[in-house]
Amino acid sequence: MHKLYVVMVGLPARGKSTLAKRICGGLKEEGVEAKIFNNGELRRILYGANSTDADFYNPSDLDHKKAREQIALRNLARAKAWINNQGMVAVLDATNASRERRRIITQTLSDHPILFVECVNEDTMLQDICIARKTSLPEFANYTKEDALANFLKRIHYYESIFEPLSEEKYWLRVDSTANRILEERALDGSPYYPAIRQILVDIPAEDLYLARHGETEFNLEGRIGGDPLLTPKGLSQATALATHLRHTRLDWVFTSTRRRSHQTAAPVLQDRHDVHTLAMPEFDELWAGSCEGMRYAEIREKMPEVSKGRNANKYNYSYPNGESYRMLHNRVKKGLCRALFLAGGSPILIIGHQAINRVLLSLFLRCHEEDIPYIFIPQNEFYHISVSLRRKVFERIPYN
Ligand code: F6P
Repeated sequence: MHKLYVVMVGLPARGKSTLAKRICGGLKEEGVEAKIFNNGELRRILYGANSTDADFYNPSDLDHKKAREQIALRNLARAKAWINNQGMVAVLDATNASRERRRIITQTLSDHPILFVECVNEDTMLQDICIARKTSLPEFANYTKEDALANFLKRIHYYESIFEPLSEEKYWLRVDSTANRILEERALDGSPYYPAIRQILVDIPAEDLYLARHGETEFNLEGRIGGDPLLTPKGLSQATALATHLRHTRLDWVFTSTRRRSHQTAAPVLQDRHDVHTLAMPEFDELWAGSCEGMRYAEIREKMPEVSKGRNANKYNYSYPNGESYRMLHNRVKKGLCRALFLAGGSPILIIGHQAINRVLLSLFLRCHEEDIPYIFIPQNEFYHISVSLRRKVFERIPYN
């Protein structure tokens, strides 16, 4: 019978626990008995507040090094006992930063294959958010905010001083945990879990993602593209209607673009919500029309017929002079979505985007032909509700006006 150990690797605040949960949750959805074994939880149980201070992680402090090794060994023993009973995939969540530690793991867990998963997160904004989450855990309750931060950064520094990336290990994946991208791998062929785990890591999971377009703008009325126009009175009432419709819907994060029409649409939604986080992301700014920004479609047809012809012939690949194409949007919108989902950590989110942006956002969940993407219908009085996992894809278009 196939069984597997998945061993997470990475510096603190690189998204290991988030990925461990996704791997475990995704496998469970497939009917696989999977469980997480977290060194941090065991550490807090065994050493409590004594293990919060950065000194506990000083690699030159031999007593503390020994204590951390003991925690790791106990956790390995727990995982091994569970695997040899009913378990199928045990996910070991810890930094496992040095080769020396990973050799101990390989020797201890020699009964079944081990897949190491290294998490990379070079996105400093997301690193800061992860650090802020860690330092607000109960274990830092007796620290001031500043002391908790300084302490945690010192802890990271200690881990950096011993960190060695995966290379000599037999089977491994290196993953950009904030972009859902596999950077390098040494495949574990023949295991039924490997392709599933790979898929879980690259898929974009979304539980309760609400996708709305801003309300009607002055430019919409005039048939102009791009720019930074304001909402019309009708657009403002669409924004109010959206807020009214969503008033009983849980939203933990509201993301907008940096444009005024997107902020104006978000304003009534945010009005009576004091615990919702909000962030304007340039990744969600509308397709940049370059030299055609602010022009009317009719004007473009008349003055720059080659642009209209080029778009009609191949709208997905055509980039405006000095501007963008839908193909170019794909990467920036995907980056924005992965960042947004990482920030929200599985809680419900609303993105207030634009016509082209919402088309691309939808296409990231649907397997559609590229040439169809620029024609997906994005109304200003309906929003999409998306809920996607490995086994289930829900897309609802809900009228709110
Ligand atoms: O017309 C509104 C708008 O958001 C423009 O700003 C943008 O250029 C356009 O939609 C994108 O849609 P299409 O690619 O169909 O022109």
